[in-house]
Amino acid sequence: MGTRVFTAKDNQMDSAEWEEAVSILRSGGLVAFPTETVYGLGGDATNPEAAQKIYQAKGRPSDNPLIVHIADLSQLGDVVAEMPEIGRRLAEHFWPGPLTMILKKSDTIPYETTGGLDTVAVRMPSHPIAQLLLKKSGVMIAAPSANASGRPSPTTAAHVWEDLRNRIDAIIDGGTVGIGIESTIIDLTEDNPLILRPGFVTKEMLEDVIGPVGMDPGLEKENTKVRPKAPGMRYRHYAPRAELTLVEGSSRDVVAKINDMTEVAMAKGQRVGILATEETKREYCRGEVVSVGKRRDEAEIAGHLYAVLRRFDDLGVDVIYSESFDDSGVGQAVMNRLLKAAGYRRISAGEDMDRVHSFK
Ligand code: TXA
Ligand code: MG
Repeated sequence: MGTRVFTAKDNQMDSAEWEEAVSILRSGGLVAFPTETVYGLGGDATNPEAAQKIYQAKGRPSDNPLIVHIADLSQLGDVVAEMPEIGRRLAEHFWPGPLTMILKKSDTIPYETTGGLDTVAVRMPSHPIAQLLLKKSGVMIAAPSANASGRPSPTTAAHVWEDLRNRIDAIIDGGTVGIGIESTIIDLTEDNPLILRPGFVTKEMLEDVIGPVGMDPGLEKENTKVRPKAPGMRYRHYAPRAELTLVEGSSRDVVAKINDMTEVAMAKGQRVGILATEETKREYCRGEVVSVGKRRDEAEIAGHLYAVLRRFDDLGVDVIYSESFDDSGVGQAVMNRLLKAAGYRRISAGEDMDRVHSFK
């Protein structure tokens, strides 16, 4: 299958191309498109065959449910069986935007879309192209991130092309996305609201609107006893091809440790990637050093993270040593993705950190 690429400049696209994109979606085909978080791989959420095509194109296990994207609140009744009061408040504050809610599904949404679950993930994206695609087609769009299963989520159309060319009908190229990390997922189907995946909308932001919000215990760093509730969070994911290790500690200790580890790995003939920051990138003597942004700017780090992980794939490194980041605000989502990419492999640099760990 040849994959068409439609190019949108300043969110404007040729009307003939819009027509084509819409007709692909309406006839059960697949169109990748930009959202404010990452690129999504879209198909008709009410069409079981379209859902199956999505799993196939990504190589994704079919028990890992998809997120249903809607244009406006008038479509909500077609997706969910009921909307609790706190859901309404969240929608008012955060939609359109990077928040996904888990709710009881309606009969219109087939089990193929929800991976066999009675609940459904729903989100109203704010990206103008996502909005236009939803509005012009009138289709509710099931869309996972548009990467091949196991690869970092795509933040440009080129990333989608790398992973899915000739496996999907079309890609709308709307440039680099703004946020760069997937939406926050909150589960509203139990007594207490629970974050299943941290994202750009933080726990604090949610609590300001609806009061106490829990964090899925399955997300905890080395918690191997409780499985994450979102099926997609159970797999090693967001993963670069090389083995990634996170190094924790003070900036000075981390740089020294990574320099040491790099020497050792290179002596063994390994190619080393170093995930650094603007502040530290000049302090590394050897290896392929890639900066993810300014340490102080969490949003910039979130925005660059996946592109940097893909860059290490292109560089063909064998191992990656990464600095770690503050676990507050959006940093929580960054650390969640990095730890998963590392398969939770992390070490501490310097004595102080060793002591901290031995007390745990
Ligand atoms: O920002 C985003 O959310 C992007 C853009 C394209 O909207 N989409 C995205 O989709 O990240 P995906 O498929 O890569 O991640 C969806 C996550 C998976 O971890 C999946 O297991 C979880 O949502 N999920 C979907 N439906 C669920 C449900 N009913 N219950 C629990 N988890 C669910
Ligand atoms: Mg994904």
